[in-house]
Amino acid sequence: MAKIKKIGVLTSGGDAPGMNAAIRGVTRTAIYNRLKVIGIRHGYEGMIHGLFKELKAHNVSDIIQKGGTILKTARSKAFRTVEGRKQAYEHLKREGIDAVVVIGGDGTIMGARKFSEEYDIPFVGIPGTIDNDIYGTDYTIGYDTALNTVVEAIDKIRDTASSHNRLFFVEVMGADAGFIAYRSGIATGAEAILVPEMKGQVVGLKDYLEKGFKRKKASNIIIVAEGDESGGAFAIAKKVKNDFKDYDVRVSVLGHIQRGGTPSAYDRVTGSLFGHAAVEALLDDQKSVMIGYTDGEISHCTFNKAIKLQKHVDLEKLEIAEILSV
Ligand code: F6P
Repeated sequence: MAKIKKIGVLTSGGDAPGMNAAIRGVTRTAIYNRLKVIGIRHGYEGMIHGLFKELKAHNVSDIIQKGGTILKTARSKAFRTVEGRKQAYEHLKREGIDAVVVIGGDGTIMGARKFSEEYDIPFVGIPGTIDNDIYGTDYTIGYDTALNTVVEAIDKIRDTASSHNRLFFVEVMGADAGFIAYRSGIATGAEAILVPEMKGQVVGLKDYLEKGFKRKKASNIIIVAEGDESGGAFAIAKKVKNDFKDYDVRVSVLGHIQRGGTPSAYDRVTGSLFGHAAVEALLDDQKSVMIGYTDGEISHCTFNKAIKLQKHVDLEKLEIAEILSV
C-alpha cells in the first residue's frame, strides 16, 4: 500500500458522547506520525460535497470534555447511492486524502464497507453509538455516558413513583437492541425490563404485577426499550392499564437527553484509545477493519463481520435482573 500522508476523519449517524475524544485521538496520533489531518464535516454528506478543513493539534484542544461532535454529523441518504459515493471519491482524490477514519454506528460502518468495495482508499472504523449494538466490540463510544444519564433520570422518577405509589413505564433508546434498557434496569433496580431480544415478556409482566398488586407492592418502574415488540412505553402502558385499573400508571419517554451531555471518563478514555488505534491500524496497512474492545483489550474486526454478525443482550443476565427485582 502507498505510504499514507493525509487522512480524513468524520463522524456519522447519531452523535454520541466521546466522539470528540476520538476525533482528538485520531488527530493527535496522526500529527505525531507526521500525517496531515482533514476534518470532514457533516459525515458522509461532507465527503460528497467536499466540506473539508485541516485539523491542527490546537483545533482539537478543549473538546475532550464536550458532548456531541465538533465535526457535526448526518445520516446521509446520498452516500447509499453509487453516484453519491463516486462524488465522495472524487472529492477525496482532489483533496489528496489517502485514508479515512469513520466514527459512528452500524450505518456508518456499512457505508464504509460499501465504499471500500468500490474504491481503493483505505477506511478504518471506530464504533460510536449510544446503542452499543455493534458486533466486534464489547463496547461502543457513548454507551457509558448514555447509561449514566438514564440512571440519573430513573432515580429521579423513582422518587415520584414511590411518593405517589405509581407504576411508571420508562422508555429508553437503543434502536433495535436492548443494551441501554438492560443495564440501566439492573443499575436502577427496575421491577421489569422489556427488550427486543426477548419475546412474549408482556405475559410475565402481567403475572408479576398481579402478584405485586396482591402483596400491595406500592410502586414499580418498568423499563421499555424503544425497539421492544410491545410497541413502546405508551402502548404497553395502555394494555396494562386495561388490566390493572387500580394502578396509577404514568409514562416517561426519556428521548434525546440520552444522546447529549458531558462524556463520562470511560467514554473519554475509550474515544481516545480507539482514535489512537485507528491511526495505528492505517499505518500498519490495515483497512476495512473496525477498532473495538474485546475482553478489555483493543481489537480489530473486519467490516464484513461487524455488519453481518449480531451482538445480543446477554439474556442470562436479564434473568439475574428478574431474580433481583423480586
Ligand atoms: O442510534 C442512536 C439513536 O439515538 C437510537 O437509539 C435512536 O433510535 C435513534 O438514534 C434516534 O435517531 P434520531 O436522532 O434521528 O431521531
